[in-house]
Amino acid sequence: MKLGHIGGMRAAGYILGIETSCDDTGVALVREGCLVGQALSTQSAHAEFGGVVPEIAAREHHRLLPVLYDRLLLETGVDPGEIRVVGVARGPGLLGCLLTGVSFAKGLSLGLSARLTGVDHLKAHLLAAGLELGLEFPALGLLASGGHTELCRMDSPLLFQRLGRTLDDAMGEAFDKCAKLLGLPYPGGPLLDRVAGEGRVDKTRFPVPYVDNANLDFSFSGLKTAAAVALEKSSGIRIPIGRSLDDLDSSSRRVLADFAASFIRSLVRGVMIKLDRALSASRGVRSLVAAGGCAANSSLRAALVEFAQKKGLNLVLPSPGLCTDNAAMIAYAAWIQAKAGRFHGLDLEAIPRGREIPEDFV
Ligand code: KG4
Ligand code: ZN
Repeated sequence: MKLGHIGGMRAAGYILGIETSCDDTGVALVREGCLVGQALSTQSAHAEFGGVVPEIAAREHHRLLPVLYDRLLLETGVDPGEIRVVGVARGPGLLGCLLTGVSFAKGLSLGLSARLTGVDHLKAHLLAAGLELGLEFPALGLLASGGHTELCRMDSPLLFQRLGRTLDDAMGEAFDKCAKLLGLPYPGGPLLDRVAGEGRVDKTRFPVPYVDNANLDFSFSGLKTAAAVALEKSSGIRIPIGRSLDDLDSSSRRVLADFAASFIRSLVRGVMIKLDRALSASRGVRSLVAAGGCAANSSLRAALVEFAQKKGLNLVLPSPGLCTDNAAMIAYAAWIQAKAGRFHGLDLEAIPRGREIPEDFV
Protein backbone atom coordinates (compact mmCIF):
# COMPACT_ATOMS: atom_id res chain seq x y z
CA MET A 1 0.00 0.00 0.00
CA LYS A 2 1.31 3.42 -0.89
CA LEU A 3 0.42 6.82 0.47
CA GLY A 4 1.73 9.73 -1.54
CA HIS A 5 1.23 13.42 -1.09
CA ILE A 6 -0.40 13.86 -4.46
CA GLY A 7 -3.99 12.90 -5.10
CA GLY A 8 -5.88 10.44 -2.92
CA MET A 9 -8.47 12.60 -1.23
CA ARG A 10 -11.20 14.81 -2.64
CA ALA A 11 -10.67 18.50 -1.90
CA ALA A 12 -12.04 18.98 1.60
CA GLY A 13 -10.85 22.44 2.52
CA TYR A 14 -7.89 23.25 4.71
CA ILE A 15 -6.67 21.25 7.68
CA LEU A 16 -5.04 23.28 10.46
CA GLY A 17 -2.42 21.54 12.60
CA ILE A 18 -1.35 22.79 16.04
CA GLU A 19 1.80 21.65 17.86
CA THR A 20 2.58 22.57 21.49
CA SER A 21 3.73 19.31 23.09
CA CYS A 22 7.14 20.54 24.26
CA ASP A 23 9.11 23.70 23.47
CA ASP A 24 8.15 24.30 19.83
CA THR A 25 5.01 26.29 19.09
CA GLY A 26 3.62 25.76 15.61
CA VAL A 27 0.59 26.07 13.37
CA ALA A 28 0.40 24.76 9.80
CA LEU A 29 -2.09 24.34 7.00
CA VAL A 30 -2.38 21.26 4.80
CA ARG A 31 -4.68 20.81 1.83
CA GLU A 32 -5.15 17.47 0.14
CA GLY A 33 -2.06 16.10 1.87
CA CYS A 34 0.18 18.97 0.73
CA LEU A 35 1.71 21.60 2.99
CA VAL A 36 0.30 25.07 2.30
CA GLY A 37 2.25 26.95 4.98
CA GLN A 38 3.61 26.84 8.49
CA ALA A 39 4.46 29.32 11.27
CA LEU A 40 6.82 27.80 13.82
CA SER A 41 8.73 29.16 16.78
CA THR A 42 11.35 27.32 18.80
CA GLN A 43 11.44 28.72 22.30
CA SER A 44 14.86 30.01 23.26
CA ALA A 45 13.93 30.77 26.88
CA HIS A 46 15.04 27.31 28.09
CA ALA A 47 18.71 27.39 27.04
CA GLU A 48 19.91 29.05 30.24
CA PHE A 49 18.18 26.36 32.37
CA GLY A 50 19.86 23.44 30.58
CA GLY A 51 16.49 21.86 29.67
CA VAL A 52 12.83 22.62 29.01
CA VAL A 53 11.02 24.32 31.95
CA PRO A 54 7.39 23.12 31.57
CA GLU A 55 5.79 26.20 33.16
CA ILE A 56 7.72 28.60 30.92
CA ALA A 57 7.01 26.47 27.86
CA ALA A 58 3.23 26.48 28.49
CA ARG A 59 3.19 30.26 29.00
CA GLU A 60 5.16 30.76 25.80
CA HIS A 61 2.70 28.58 23.85
CA HIS A 62 -0.15 30.64 25.27
CA ARG A 63 1.54 33.86 24.18
CA LEU A 64 2.68 32.66 20.76
CA LEU A 65 -0.25 30.65 19.40
CA PRO A 66 -2.51 33.59 18.42
CA VAL A 67 0.46 35.47 16.94
CA LEU A 68 1.55 32.50 14.83
CA TYR A 69 -2.03 31.74 13.75
CA ASP A 70 -2.51 35.31 12.49
CA ARG A 71 0.86 35.19 10.73
CA LEU A 72 0.01 31.90 9.03
CA LEU A 73 -3.28 33.24 7.70
CA LEU A 74 -1.63 36.43 6.53
CA GLU A 75 1.25 34.67 4.78
CA THR A 76 -0.88 32.01 3.08
CA GLY A 77 -3.84 34.29 2.33
CA VAL A 78 -6.19 31.54 3.49
CA ASP A 79 -9.66 32.58 4.64
CA PRO A 80 -10.23 30.99 8.08
CA GLY A 81 -13.76 30.09 6.94
CA GLU A 82 -12.16 27.53 4.62
CA ILE A 83 -10.60 25.60 7.52
CA ARG A 84 -12.67 22.44 7.79
CA VAL A 85 -10.64 20.51 10.37
CA VAL A 86 -8.55 21.59 13.37
CA GLY A 87 -5.96 18.96 14.29
CA VAL A 88 -3.98 19.26 17.51
CA ALA A 89 -1.18 17.27 19.13
CA ARG A 90 -3.01 15.81 22.16
CA GLY A 91 -0.03 13.86 23.53
CA PRO A 92 2.28 12.52 24.63
CA GLY A 93 4.04 15.59 25.93
CA LEU A 94 4.19 18.07 28.79
CA LEU A 95 0.65 18.32 30.15
CA GLY A 96 0.51 22.10 30.62
CA CYS A 97 1.86 22.60 27.10
CA LEU A 98 -0.59 20.15 25.56
CA LEU A 99 -3.52 21.76 27.39
CA THR A 100 -2.61 25.13 25.88
CA GLY A 101 -2.73 23.72 22.34
CA VAL A 102 -5.82 21.60 22.92
CA SER A 103 -7.74 24.55 24.42
CA PHE A 104 -6.74 26.78 21.52
CA ALA A 105 -7.86 24.06 19.07
CA LYS A 106 -11.22 23.65 20.80
CA GLY A 107 -11.86 27.39 20.70
CA LEU A 108 -10.96 27.56 17.01
CA SER A 109 -13.05 24.55 16.08
CA LEU A 110 -16.05 26.12 17.81
CA GLY A 111 -15.45 29.56 16.33
CA LEU A 112 -14.86 28.24 12.80
CA SER A 113 -17.46 25.45 12.92
CA ALA A 114 -14.62 23.08 11.97
CA ARG A 115 -14.25 19.44 13.02
CA LEU A 116 -11.73 18.67 15.77
CA THR A 117 -9.26 15.80 15.72
CA GLY A 118 -6.63 14.99 18.35
CA VAL A 119 -3.35 13.70 16.95
CA ASP A 120 -0.84 11.31 18.53
CA HIS A 121 2.39 13.32 18.37
CA LEU A 122 4.50 10.15 17.95
CA LYS A 123 2.46 8.80 15.04
CA ALA A 124 2.60 12.24 13.44
CA HIS A 125 6.42 12.12 13.63
CA LEU A 126 6.43 8.74 11.86
CA LEU A 127 4.04 9.94 9.15
CA ALA A 128 5.77 13.29 8.60
CA ALA A 129 7.83 12.07 5.65
CA GLY A 130 4.57 11.56 3.73
CA LEU A 131 4.60 15.32 3.11
CA GLU A 132 7.73 14.90 0.99
CA LEU A 133 7.84 11.29 -0.16
CA GLY A 134 5.50 8.39 -0.80
CA LEU A 135 5.10 6.16 2.27
CA GLU A 136 5.03 2.43 1.63
CA PHE A 137 3.48 -0.11 3.98
CA PRO A 138 4.19 -2.31 5.84
CA ALA A 139 7.10 -0.28 7.17
CA LEU A 140 9.42 -0.41 10.13
CA GLY A 141 9.49 2.90 11.98
CA LEU A 142 12.22 4.27 14.21
CA LEU A 143 11.14 7.27 16.23
CA ALA A 144 14.00 8.91 18.12
CA SER A 145 13.24 12.26 19.69
CA GLY A 146 14.01 14.20 22.86
CA GLY A 147 11.18 12.53 24.75
CA HIS A 148 10.75 9.15 23.07
CA THR A 149 12.59 6.33 21.38
CA GLU A 150 10.39 3.66 19.85
CA LEU A 151 10.42 0.96 17.22
CA CYS A 152 7.11 0.39 15.44
CA ARG A 153 5.65 -1.76 12.76
CA MET A 154 3.43 0.40 10.56
CA ASP A 155 0.87 -1.61 8.59
CA SER A 156 -1.01 1.42 7.33
CA PRO A 157 -1.11 5.17 8.13
CA LEU A 158 -3.59 4.30 10.88
CA LEU A 159 -2.35 0.93 12.11
CA PHE A 160 0.81 0.94 14.22
CA GLN A 161 2.22 -1.71 16.54
CA ARG A 162 4.92 -0.83 19.06
CA LEU A 163 7.80 -3.33 19.01
CA GLY A 164 10.13 -1.68 21.49
CA ARG A 165 10.69 1.49 23.50
CA THR A 166 13.24 3.07 25.75
CA LEU A 167 13.24 1.92 29.34
CA ASP A 168 14.85 5.12 30.60
CA ASP A 169 16.26 8.09 28.67
CA ALA A 170 15.21 8.84 25.11
CA MET A 171 17.92 8.95 22.44
CA GLY A 172 17.71 12.76 22.32
CA GLU A 173 18.17 12.91 26.10
CA ALA A 174 21.30 10.78 25.76
CA PHE A 175 22.66 13.27 23.21
CA ASP A 176 21.63 16.28 25.29
CA LYS A 177 22.94 14.91 28.59
CA CYS A 178 26.31 13.97 27.09
CA ALA A 179 26.49 17.43 25.53
CA LYS A 180 25.67 19.00 28.90
CA LEU A 181 28.49 17.03 30.54
CA LEU A 182 30.81 18.52 27.94
CA GLY A 183 29.59 22.04 28.77
CA LEU A 184 27.47 22.53 25.64
CA PRO A 185 24.15 24.44 25.93
CA TYR A 186 20.70 22.84 25.57
CA PRO A 187 19.71 21.26 23.24
CA GLY A 188 23.18 19.84 22.79
CA GLY A 189 22.32 17.11 20.24
CA PRO A 190 22.88 19.22 17.12
CA LEU A 191 26.12 20.73 18.54
CA LEU A 192 27.43 17.30 19.49
CA ASP A 193 26.61 16.15 15.96
CA ARG A 194 28.51 19.08 14.47
CA VAL A 195 31.66 18.68 16.55
CA ALA A 196 31.67 14.86 16.22
CA GLY A 197 32.13 15.35 12.48
CA GLU A 198 35.66 16.59 13.24
CA GLY A 199 36.52 13.68 15.57
CA ARG A 200 38.00 10.20 15.29
CA VAL A 201 35.96 7.21 16.42
CA ASP A 202 37.39 4.83 19.03
CA LYS A 203 35.01 1.85 18.96
CA THR A 204 36.26 0.54 22.30
CA ARG A 205 35.88 3.77 24.26
CA PHE A 206 32.19 3.38 25.19
CA PRO A 207 29.94 0.32 25.60
CA VAL A 208 27.26 -0.37 23.00
CA PRO A 209 24.17 0.18 25.15
CA TYR A 210 21.68 -2.52 26.11
CA VAL A 211 22.19 -5.13 23.39
CA ASP A 212 22.92 -8.25 25.50
CA ASN A 213 19.25 -9.18 25.79
CA ALA A 214 16.53 -10.66 23.63
CA ASN A 215 14.13 -7.71 23.46
CA LEU A 216 13.65 -4.73 21.15
CA ASP A 217 13.74 -2.13 23.91
CA PHE A 218 16.41 0.51 24.43
CA SER A 219 18.26 1.80 27.48
CA PHE A 220 20.69 4.68 27.28
CA SER A 221 21.31 5.54 30.93
CA GLY A 222 24.31 3.17 31.18
CA LEU A 223 26.00 4.90 28.26
CA LYS A 224 25.36 8.27 29.88
CA THR A 225 27.00 7.04 33.09
CA ALA A 226 29.95 5.69 31.07
CA ALA A 227 30.36 9.15 29.51
CA ALA A 228 30.23 10.82 32.95
CA VAL A 229 32.82 8.40 34.37
CA ALA A 230 35.12 8.81 31.34
CA LEU A 231 34.87 12.56 31.69
CA GLU A 232 35.76 12.49 35.37
CA LYS A 233 38.94 10.59 34.54
CA SER A 234 40.04 12.88 31.75
CA SER A 235 40.75 16.51 32.36
CA GLY A 236 40.46 19.32 29.85
CA ILE A 237 37.51 18.07 27.81
CA ARG A 238 34.75 20.16 29.36
CA ILE A 239 34.08 23.62 27.88
CA PRO A 240 34.63 26.17 30.68
CA ILE A 241 31.53 28.03 31.96
CA GLY A 242 30.88 31.16 29.92
CA ARG A 243 32.82 29.82 26.92
CA SER A 244 31.55 28.19 23.74
CA LEU A 245 32.78 25.47 21.44
CA ASP A 246 34.31 28.07 19.17
CA ASP A 247 36.44 29.48 22.04
CA LEU A 248 38.38 26.20 22.40
CA ASP A 249 41.94 25.96 21.09
CA SER A 250 42.45 23.41 18.34
CA SER A 251 43.89 20.64 20.51
CA SER A 252 41.10 20.87 23.17
CA ARG A 253 38.54 20.94 20.40
CA ARG A 254 40.04 17.79 18.87
CA VAL A 255 39.92 15.96 22.22
CA LEU A 256 36.28 16.96 22.65
CA ALA A 257 35.46 15.98 19.05
CA ASP A 258 37.01 12.51 19.52
CA PHE A 259 34.96 12.04 22.69
CA ALA A 260 31.74 13.08 20.91
CA ALA A 261 32.43 10.92 17.83
CA SER A 262 33.05 7.81 19.95
CA PHE A 263 30.00 8.44 22.13
CA ILE A 264 27.73 8.88 19.11
CA ARG A 265 29.16 5.80 17.44
CA SER A 266 28.19 3.62 20.43
CA LEU A 267 24.75 5.19 20.68
CA VAL A 268 24.02 4.71 16.99
CA ARG A 269 25.44 1.19 16.96
CA GLY A 270 23.08 0.19 19.81
CA VAL A 271 20.09 1.54 17.92
CA MET A 272 21.09 -0.15 14.66
CA ILE A 273 21.49 -3.55 16.35
CA LYS A 274 17.93 -3.33 17.67
CA LEU A 275 16.68 -2.16 14.29
CA ASP A 276 18.30 -5.15 12.62
CA ARG A 277 16.64 -7.50 15.11
CA ALA A 278 13.27 -5.83 14.62
CA LEU A 279 13.56 -6.28 10.87
CA SER A 280 14.38 -9.97 11.24
CA ALA A 281 11.29 -10.39 13.41
CA SER A 282 8.92 -8.45 11.08
CA ARG A 283 7.49 -10.14 8.03
CA GLY A 284 6.94 -8.40 4.72
CA VAL A 285 8.50 -5.05 5.65
CA ARG A 286 9.51 -3.10 2.54
CA SER A 287 10.40 0.23 3.88
CA LEU A 288 12.17 1.88 6.80
CA VAL A 289 10.94 5.18 8.22
CA ALA A 290 13.05 7.31 10.55
CA ALA A 291 11.57 10.21 12.47
CA GLY A 292 12.04 12.56 15.43
CA GLY A 293 14.74 15.10 16.17
CA CYS A 294 17.55 12.50 16.35
CA ALA A 295 16.80 11.42 12.78
CA ALA A 296 18.52 14.71 11.89
CA ASN A 297 21.77 13.31 13.30
CA SER A 298 24.33 12.78 10.55
CA SER A 299 25.84 9.55 11.95
CA LEU A 300 22.42 7.97 12.42
CA ARG A 301 21.37 9.05 8.93
CA ALA A 302 24.52 7.55 7.41
CA ALA A 303 24.00 4.28 9.31
CA LEU A 304 20.37 4.12 8.18
CA VAL A 305 21.33 4.67 4.53
CA GLU A 306 23.89 1.85 4.71
CA PHE A 307 21.47 -0.48 6.52
CA ALA A 308 18.63 0.13 4.07
CA GLN A 309 20.92 -0.48 1.10
CA LYS A 310 22.20 -3.73 2.60
CA LYS A 311 18.69 -4.97 3.39
CA GLY A 312 17.09 -3.77 0.14
CA LEU A 313 14.67 -1.47 2.00
CA ASN A 314 13.17 1.75 0.74
CA LEU A 315 14.49 4.33 3.25
CA VAL A 316 12.12 7.16 4.12
CA LEU A 317 14.14 9.88 5.77
CA PRO A 318 12.40 13.23 6.22
CA SER A 319 14.41 16.39 5.73
CA PRO A 320 15.81 17.66 9.07
CA GLY A 321 13.09 20.33 9.42
CA LEU A 322 10.42 17.62 9.36
CA CYS A 323 12.33 15.45 11.85
CA THR A 324 12.22 17.94 14.71
CA ASP A 325 8.91 19.06 16.23
CA ASN A 326 6.70 20.93 13.78
CA ALA A 327 3.04 21.60 13.07
CA ALA A 328 3.15 20.42 9.45
CA MET A 329 3.30 16.80 10.61
CA ILE A 330 0.30 17.37 12.92
CA ALA A 331 -1.74 18.87 10.08
CA TYR A 332 -0.73 15.98 7.80
CA ALA A 333 -1.70 13.33 10.39
CA ALA A 334 -4.96 15.21 10.99
CA TRP A 335 -5.64 15.06 7.24
CA ILE A 336 -5.15 11.27 7.32
CA GLN A 337 -7.48 10.98 10.32
CA ALA A 338 -10.09 13.21 8.71
CA LYS A 339 -10.05 11.06 5.55
CA ALA A 340 -10.84 8.07 7.74
CA GLY A 341 -13.62 9.98 9.55
CA ARG A 342 -11.73 10.03 12.83
CA PHE A 343 -12.79 13.07 14.85
CA HIS A 344 -13.12 14.13 18.47
CA GLY A 345 -15.68 16.10 20.46
CA LEU A 346 -14.99 19.06 22.71
CA ASP A 347 -14.24 16.62 25.53
CA LEU A 348 -10.92 15.73 23.82
CA GLU A 349 -8.36 15.04 26.54
CA ALA A 350 -4.68 15.93 26.53
CA ILE A 351 -2.55 12.87 27.35
CA PRO A 352 0.76 13.39 29.20
CA ARG A 353 3.91 11.34 28.64
CA GLY A 354 3.62 7.83 30.09
CA ARG A 355 -0.07 7.26 29.32
CA GLU A 356 -1.26 5.37 26.24
CA ILE A 357 -3.09 7.52 23.69
CA PRO A 358 -6.67 6.17 23.49
CA GLU A 359 -8.42 5.56 20.15
CA ASP A 360 -11.48 7.44 21.42
CA PHE A 361 -12.79 8.94 18.19
CA VAL A 362 -16.48 9.90 18.09
O1 KG4 B 1 11.56 15.53 17.91
P1 KG4 B 1 12.15 16.65 18.66
O2 KG4 B 1 12.31 17.97 17.97
O3 KG4 B 1 11.36 16.95 19.97
C1 KG4 B 1 10.75 15.98 20.75
O4 KG4 B 1 9.62 15.54 20.40
O5 KG4 B 1 11.42 15.60 21.73
O6 KG4 B 1 13.58 16.14 19.19
C2 KG4 B 1 14.43 16.97 19.91
C3 KG4 B 1 15.70 16.18 20.20
C4 KG4 B 1 16.66 16.92 21.13
O7 KG4 B 1 17.08 16.01 22.13
C5 KG4 B 1 17.81 17.30 20.21
O8 KG4 B 1 19.05 17.40 20.86
C6 KG4 B 1 17.78 16.16 19.22
O9 KG4 B 1 16.41 15.92 18.99
N1 KG4 B 1 18.46 16.50 17.96
C7 KG4 B 1 19.61 15.95 17.57
C8 KG4 B 1 19.96 16.55 16.34
N2 KG4 B 1 18.97 17.45 16.02
C9 KG4 B 1 18.06 17.40 17.03
N3 KG4 B 1 20.38 15.02 18.16
C10 KG4 B 1 21.52 14.67 17.52
N4 KG4 B 1 21.92 15.20 16.34
C11 KG4 B 1 21.16 16.14 15.72
N5 KG4 B 1 21.56 16.65 14.55
ZN1 ZN C 1 8.48 15.27 18.95
